[in-house]
Amino acid sequence: MRITLGVTGGVAAYKSAELVRRLQTEGHTVQVVMTRAAREFITSLTFAALSGQKVITDLFANSDGGDANLDSAIEHIAVAQRTDLLLVAPATADILAKFARGLADDFLSTLYLASTAPVIVAPAMNVNMWQHAATQENLATLRKRGVRIVEPGEGYLACGMTGPGRLAEQEEILKAVREVAQAQQDFAGETVLVTAGPTCEDLDPVRFITNRSSGKMGYAVAEAAARRGAKTILISGPTALETPEGVERVDVRTAQEMLQAVKSGFAAATIAVFAAAVADYRPAEPATSKIKRTKDELTIRLKPNPDILSTVAREKGDRVVVGFAAETDHMAENARKKLESKNADLIVANDVTAEGAGFDMETNVVTIFSRDGRDLPLPRQRKTEVAQRILDEVLRVRGVLRSKRATHRAGD
Ligand code: CTP
Repeated sequence: MRITLGVTGGVAAYKSAELVRRLQTEGHTVQVVMTRAAREFITSLTFAALSGQKVITDLFANSDGGDANLDSAIEHIAVAQRTDLLLVAPATADILAKFARGLADDFLSTLYLASTAPVIVAPAMNVNMWQHAATQENLATLRKRGVRIVEPGEGYLACGMTGPGRLAEQEEILKAVREVAQAQQDFAGETVLVTAGPTCEDLDPVRFITNRSSGKMGYAVAEAAARRGAKTILISGPTALETPEGVERVDVRTAQEMLQAVKSGFAAATIAVFAAAVADYRPAEPATSKIKRTKDELTIRLKPNPDILSTVAREKGDRVVVGFAAETDHMAENARKKLESKNADLIVANDVTAEGAGFDMETNVVTIFSRDGRDLPLPRQRKTEVAQRILDEVLRVRGVLRSKRATHRAGD
């Protein structure tokens, strides 16, 4: 996982240096974020050396004459997007209060709000601060929101008092991290095939017909599937995007090439997601040399491309098949029709005219229609989040299909 480790101001801050090492040994990448108070206890240099990454200390570069180490003013959003787990150790009473209240006056508290990743906090503080009703109420709020608390241990505290407040043992913190990692690998054992991007249909050696698809939605699905443990094959039309980590990418140009690639990948797939914006037509007779300009009108005859999704989904067997539907009107009706006509289990439909939806945007507004009649309208959110929700639905549908088959067999 890509773990963001928040270090806040407490004597136990030095223990987090060892934690960085342990997390790396377990295969995680660690990005350290330190609060200003933490830097009173330990320098950022220690963490930079251990993690091999620059340490983030401020919301704004140079705001206090400190490290000018932010690439941009929205670095917290970028870090939030690449965080699989936010771990705060040690967590002071102050950061717990900020998280509980939603204050965002430094990098770590802002990141907490901007991130949708699971959160683990390992508090460490004076016993009275720990037992104070304010702290306990903040913890209850966080717990209710799903934040995992690695309870502090009892013992002699740096302040000279004895009682609960000592940062939990490293093993306890690592155990919580392992549980989160495990839960995120819910696609282990699956092979996910994803199509993405546009296709290009050649008119002549220098010209082609294409569309405005950026490929972002399909790439987000492939990235999410790989991160959740699936073997992932991404069959991509031409895009400007980088191959997500852990994804095997097959580049194609035309719909026909995409069909061939899908056919050879589909047999081994357990799940297939068709996010590509395939050109429905291609020039009937592409010219072998460049078409010259004349004064006459030019007519180009087009012939239909194969429907890739329908072609392979006819024999889908146990696979869960997901299609997309880009609509400008009658979205629900058209999406339901596509469920049937394409033999898909899910159709992710979006009204491409809606604000914050459609081509080349970071966000999307979709409704996921499923064969079992459940419509799941989603609010406007980042394509990376939409991808996670699609995968959640895939697992739900897989469960429904399995229990149906079991009932069917029992009835035989
Ligand atoms: N699709 C495909 N091959 C095609 C056309 C579409 O695999 N030649 C897939 C898309 O990847 C998408 C789904 O089918 O998952 C629906 O695409 P869409 O363009 O919305 O539907 P069409 O079938 O092309 O219907 P229309 O354009 O008339 O709405």
